[in-house]
Amino acid sequence: MSIIAVTGGRPLSGKIAVQGSKNGVLPVLAATLMNRGVSVIENCPDLSDVGVTLSILENLGCGVSRDGGRVSVDASVIHTTKVGCEATNRLRSSVNFLGALLAREGCADIGYPGGCELGMRPIDIHVDALGAMGAKISCGVTVSATARRPSAGTVRMRGISVGATENAVMFACACPGTMRIENAATEPEICELADFLNASGYVVAGAGTRVIEVTGRRPEPREVHHTASPDRIAAATFICAVITAGGDILLENTYGCNIDNVISPAIAMGCDIRADGNAVRVTLAGGPYSPGRIKTEPYPGFPTDAQPLFMAASAGACGDTVFEETIFDGRFRHAGELNKMGADIIVRGNTAFVRGRRKLHGERVRAYDLRGGAAMIVAALGAEGRTEVSDNGYIDRGYERIAERLNLLGACAERTDG
Ligand code: EPU
Repeated sequence: MSIIAVTGGRPLSGKIAVQGSKNGVLPVLAATLMNRGVSVIENCPDLSDVGVTLSILENLGCGVSRDGGRVSVDASVIHTTKVGCEATNRLRSSVNFLGALLAREGCADIGYPGGCELGMRPIDIHVDALGAMGAKISCGVTVSATARRPSAGTVRMRGISVGATENAVMFACACPGTMRIENAATEPEICELADFLNASGYVVAGAGTRVIEVTGRRPEPREVHHTASPDRIAAATFICAVITAGGDILLENTYGCNIDNVISPAIAMGCDIRADGNAVRVTLAGGPYSPGRIKTEPYPGFPTDAQPLFMAASAGACGDTVFEETIFDGRFRHAGELNKMGADIIVRGNTAFVRGRRKLHGERVRAYDLRGGAAMIVAALGAEGRTEVSDNGYIDRGYERIAERLNLLGACAERTDG
């Protein structure tokens, strides 16, 4: 168990580069299997989820090397199509190996995907979509699939799912003819995967819209270069940190960061946000005030991953805020921890009512999931006294050296590993 201790009350100032996107790079790393050559990923964040994904690639037989933010994967040869449960239990995005292995080898046998506990996280939409495209899938402790009769046509996703859309796109690359995927997720991470696949010689059109068309083919191996996009949720985390701690920071490496959906509530809360070349300047100009009502929605709506961060920021803001969570059914565990710090939050079903203008105080709290843990840090930066966030490895899954990087902005954060 690690502890991140934060002593609050210091306004933030200075510059920080936004890390590469976790949710953008993880499916791309799985898709490196679909280039039977060398894929080089730049700006790859140094996260435990990335480490687990690279070890899955190594266990499959790929040559993997890492030099700072540059990761190289040689997938010319693989020895197995099995991914064991120890690895898949550790992260949800391990489910991307289903689509990638099916596309490459016509079969896959992967452990059931784990990840943060945010309520039910079934994989029925993945199974239905891949099944409709000609895969035969059986689910138990492991998920086994064979591409029995891959065929082109139209598949309509039963619900909007980021991971299932990624799997459908990857498998469609191996189906003969043109596959039309309807009701696709439109998150920027889908566009990032499509960019990588197109650079690898596949033909994916329409990513970022509800209809994606993939023309199946088997491209020659090649050297593919891809740069991970900046992490939009990490950027939102720093914005919320400015809301609680106050101050003025320059977020660098934000070109193409897709943070429009968090900018409006941040401005409503009192931030002044200005684009400055490849950077965004964030200043707390007044308030903080309540952003009013926030409803999480699929992209381009307000992201569920930013809900805990904005809840932490709203707890000390002037006015009442209502959060409606429509993506996950168990994503309010941070509310109880914020209440320990003096917040006044009542949760009813998928809605949380935050009565703002509470001065939060330091406390011993717990991270129950990745973004919930980051929310504790955001709250702690504006709280009076010292907060200790005990964390079972969640925060490292999605944030690069969070304590160290906040200290570069003048925060007082310290990490101890027990
Ligand atoms: N769902 C189903 N059946 C399925 C798939 C999804 O019912 O087969 C449900 C889920 O239970 C959830 C909703 O559909 O209620 C949306 O799930 P989705 O599949 O879109 O999410 P995901 O692909 O598992 C990714 C991110 C999450 C992010 C969500 C939504 C990765 C690795 N994870 O998860 O990120 O919250 O999309 O935007 O890309 C995080 O970074 O902290 C995180 C949880």
